[in-house]
Amino acid sequence: MGRFYITTPIYYANDAPHVGSAYTTVNADALARWHRLAGDDVKFMTGTDEHGQKMADAAEKNGKSPAEWTDLMSERFREAWSALNISYDDFIRTTEPRHYETVQKFLSVIYENGYIYKDVYKGLYCVSCEDYYTLEASDNGSCPIHHRVLTEMEEENWFFQLSAFEDRLIEFYDTHPGFVTPETKRNEAYSFMKGGLKDISITRTSITWGVPVPWDERHVFYVWYDALINYLTVIGYGRDDEEVARWWPHSNHLIGKEILRFHCVWWPAMCMAAGLEPVHHVHVNGWLLVGGEKLGKTMAAEGGVKVSDIEPIALSQEFGVDPLRYYLLRETALGNDGEFSLEGIAARYNTDLANNLGNLVARVAAVVSSKCAGVGPLPQSDSTLRAVAEATTAKAAEAWENFAPQRALEVTFDLVGATNAYLETHAPWKMEPGSAVDAVMGDALEAIRLVTILISPAMPSVAEEIWRRIGLRGAPDSGPFGAVATWGLYPGGPVEKGASLFPRITSEL
Ligand code: MSP
Repeated sequence: MGRFYITTPIYYANDAPHVGSAYTTVNADALARWHRLAGDDVKFMTGTDEHGQKMADAAEKNGKSPAEWTDLMSERFREAWSALNISYDDFIRTTEPRHYETVQKFLSVIYENGYIYKDVYKGLYCVSCEDYYTLEASDNGSCPIHHRVLTEMEEENWFFQLSAFEDRLIEFYDTHPGFVTPETKRNEAYSFMKGGLKDISITRTSITWGVPVPWDERHVFYVWYDALINYLTVIGYGRDDEEVARWWPHSNHLIGKEILRFHCVWWPAMCMAAGLEPVHHVHVNGWLLVGGEKLGKTMAAEGGVKVSDIEPIALSQEFGVDPLRYYLLRETALGNDGEFSLEGIAARYNTDLANNLGNLVARVAAVVSSKCAGVGPLPQSDSTLRAVAEATTAKAAEAWENFAPQRALEVTFDLVGATNAYLETHAPWKMEPGSAVDAVMGDALEAIRLVTILISPAMPSVAEEIWRRIGLRGAPDSGPFGAVATWGLYPGGPVEKGASLFPRITSEL
């Protein structure tokens, strides 16, 4: 049995979640569910990032203290994740005492190791990014992402000696080829390091909303510097060495492409400075776009899109939780950017879910009812569907292992299509009841059983429903995959017709 520790970035709690935040979370959830299905010991964490200038500003704008505001917003994230059936094992808030403890311990080790020193910092700052920009990297003095004018900041700060890790980082990348995936993103991080690393300012005196610096109480840590450490807080760094040893070598961060530098350069260097092996693997996802721009709350605030069109709970109510999850996982390869639209969700829904999967389950139930007295027959060991099904389970498993839910679902739905084609070739609805019909229907039910297991990380509730309808006991995700995803295990059972799983969407959106 393997181990798999998967993390999402912790979301800024200055505002409520949108479907872009749901994108990373749903992908991480499906990967966690896949690994549980595969029989691995899994820890899956998410949470909220609650310090920093942006948070303090948002709280003030809403007439609340930062603590009150982050309580409210953090709860919105929990509600959204509960609505989307996100199976996290831990939800961290960076304002929790356990996080303060881990941050202070971890950074004290780096300080004692001599990698932190005091200096004056002057630069252009974007509060939305909580990050400095050089003039060259800015868009004529504005933030290239948020298009707001950058503010000039000058402070006496504590600095982390990132420059001391340039060679070690490059060597680490050279000796750990799979450290960052996809390859294009790995190359981006690599060229950034090759371009030379500057030391980074890691504390602030201009704000008080942050984790206090233990050796200099006038300062709080810069929000990014405390946030990254959350991945260690959750596994008990500074409190439980065994848990750290148990999970850290199996750690995987799923992150958006704009936070690559923090996770793929700063963070491994911070770990090295603290005498800890860097995170095992970082997978970088692209953005959901609207009209080519990164989807975000500001779009709604500026009137470009309706809030309900990018709000996860509203979308799940409109399309169903599992169809929304399916769309987020299936539409775009995890690593690429993808255009998000309501029409896109409806098209995916109608093509894959209503016409392909829903149709298969409905027609099999109808034929079993009319030709097999409602009892699902056993599959044949020499079915022509068997080879397709076996190739599918192997390809889908490989794709899930490689952080490619889109590919895993694509091949799974090819099996759905092949099963529909198998039914059309044999046309059991035209046959008289008897062994020939039984053979075809047993095979189709076995293919459905395998499909149900394969879709369970993506659409857990739909999978459970199909599982039950074809008369199976237990749950589609109980695994272990290697034992249950073998052709021929459908034991027969009562098959229920039931209402349409995915009624077609015909209305205008
Ligand atoms: N708080 C930091 C992360 C700290 S992790 C130690 C942060 N928060 S965020 O809320 O701005 O973004 C969190 C994640 O949501 C990022 O991975 C980001 O890429 C993702 N997304 C936000 N909008 C997105 C899209 N439109 N599309 C895809 N993912 C997006 O950065």
